[in-house]
Formats: sequence, structure tokens, C-alpha cells
Amino acid sequence: MAVSIKEVARRAGVSLGTVSNVLNRPDQVSEATRERVRRAIAETGYVRNDSARQLREGSSRTLAMVVLDMANPFFTDVAHGAEQEAARHDAMLVMCNSGDDPRREERHLEQIAQQRMRGVLITPADGDGEQALRTLSAQGVPAVLVDRHSDRPDRCSVSVDDVLGGRLAAEHLLAAGHTRIGFVGGPAAVPQVRERRRGAAETIAAAAARLYDIPTPALTFEAGRDAAATLLDDPDRPTALFCANDLLALGVLQTLTLRGLAVPGDMAVIGYDDIDFAAAAAVPLSSIRQPREELGRTAARLLLEEAAGDGTHRHQHVVFMPELIARRSTTA
Ligand code: RIB
Repeated sequence: MAVSIKEVARRAGVSLGTVSNVLNRPDQVSEATRERVRRAIAETGYVRNDSARQLREGSSRTLAMVVLDMANPFFTDVAHGAEQEAARHDAMLVMCNSGDDPRREERHLEQIAQQRMRGVLITPADGDGEQALRTLSAQGVPAVLVDRHSDRPDRCSVSVDDVLGGRLAAEHLLAAGHTRIGFVGGPAAVPQVRERRRGAAETIAAAAARLYDIPTPALTFEAGRDAAATLLDDPDRPTALFCANDLLALGVLQTLTLRGLAVPGDMAVIGYDDIDFAAAAAVPLSSIRQPREELGRTAARLLLEEAAGDGTHRHQHVVFMPELIARRSTTA
């Protein structure tokens, strides 16, 4: 039974008109009242519905995918796989960009619930996304975590073993003779970054080699370009870099090349994801491959199974294996 707007008004201790104003003309309501009404909406699980048609049909035929960075080909490749699976079930996929900002993410999730979308694939912006996902779950919208491992019994997740991925990258650089290896990546709040670093750090420590941390504010080309520029001022710099994703690695490659360094001779570089631009780079980039379209197809399949609501779905945590793709940026 859908929660009515009357229940929200009663719970918040305001009139129906005030609730309507909070939903439609929030600038006409004080922040204190807006907060009371928002809390009542979350507590009751009220979902404003924009489309009577979707109410009649129970839910839309649309899946949403909320990603950290729509400019990162990793996510568009994952979305391509998810869209293919959605189309096989006569459903469509819309992409939302959180920009790694939990507040933007929450606004997307509110819209997804209001429009009664069938479910959401999400790479959460904050540490584990539980706050955002609890709200969705209270409103009956299933969610599958993508590129993020979870062992919660109440939802599905699809990810890659990032600790192993970090280990593969470090082993590859150690095998090439490097004993001073930098990890370029951040923010450390992103679990994927932490796990990739952990795999590399454990492997480097076991080889009695030296790990340099080169933190970045984001997982972007620009952040990689800037990190390399700073690094080159350090006379005691490493001879090889493991970057937390390919965009960082491509930014690093550009700076090294523009500053006249030979890759891999002066500095070896390996990324993570194996997006198409990795192989196409001027110095073909070594990377740790994530099966991106398979991640998307699997996540969409699990979401559609759960959304079918026929009682047959069992939550799963699917973990794919990463693969080392060696190219010129690490092997002369
Ligand atoms: O999802 C966080 C990161 O993991 C993204 O930058 C993507 O490139 C993947 O590697």
C-alpha cells in the first residue's frame, strides 16, 4: 500500500499544502520545516509519483545507473553491457552522474524513486553508500552495487577482485626489475582505490621493495597529469608507477612524454581498467583489465531478476578476476 501525502503531513505535523510546497516550491518553506517534512518522507517511505501510468503498471520499464564519473570510459563500457541486458528484457537504461558527490547522488536517487524506476545500478559516491541505499530500499526500489564488493545479505553486488588486481600490477613491475614503485591514486575513501593499493603494497613489501604513495584528489586524467608534474621535481622518485585507473595513467603518460622522459626506460607506467584508450595511447599503456561489459550485463541481470519480485531471486555477490595486459609502457 503506497504511503499517502496525508501520512507525511501528519508525521511532520504540517498541512497538506506545506508538504506540497516542500515537494514543489521548497523555496517557499523554511529550512526547518523542509527538514521535518524530508524526515517524515524518509520515515514513512513516501514516494511522490510523477506518472499515474507507471502507478497503474506497478513500475516503469527503466533501469537507472548512477556512476562516479560519466566522463570515465570505464563506466560507459559497464553501462553498455547493462544496456544490452536491459534491452533483452524490453527495458531501457538511463545514466546519472554523481561526480563522486554524495549529495548529488542522493538527489538522483530521490528522482529515481519518484519516477518509480524499476531499479538502480550504483557505484556509491561515499564509503559504502548504505545511507542512500537504505532510502531506496524503504521505497521498494532494488539496487545492485557495481564495481564495489559487498557481503551484505540484503542486496547484490558485482565487482572485480581489486586486491588481486593490485597484486598483479606490482608483480609485473617487480618482474621488470623495479624496486621503487609509486602508487598514484585517490581519494583513499574510494574502496576500489584502497583495495588496489593494498594488493600492491603487500606484494611490494613481500619483495622488500619500496612503495611511494602519490595521492590524488580524483581519479581523472587531469589529476594524473598534475601528480606526475609534482613527482618529477622529486630527485628520489620511483622508477615505476601503478595508477589506480587508466585515466590517471594516461595523464601521467602525457606529462612524462611532454617533459621528455622515456617510457618505460625512465619511468614505467601501468593503469587499471584497460579501457580502449589504453591500447590506443601513443605509448600503449599496460593495464589491469576489468571485464567491463560483463560487469554491466551481470549487474543488470541480477537487478531485473530482483525487480521481477516473483520470489525466485537470491542475492549474489559476483566477483570477477582481473587480468594483466602488458604493453609498451612497462615492457621495453
Ligand atoms: O569506480 C572507481 C574506479 O574504479 C573508477 O575510476 C574506475 O576507473 C574503476 O577503475
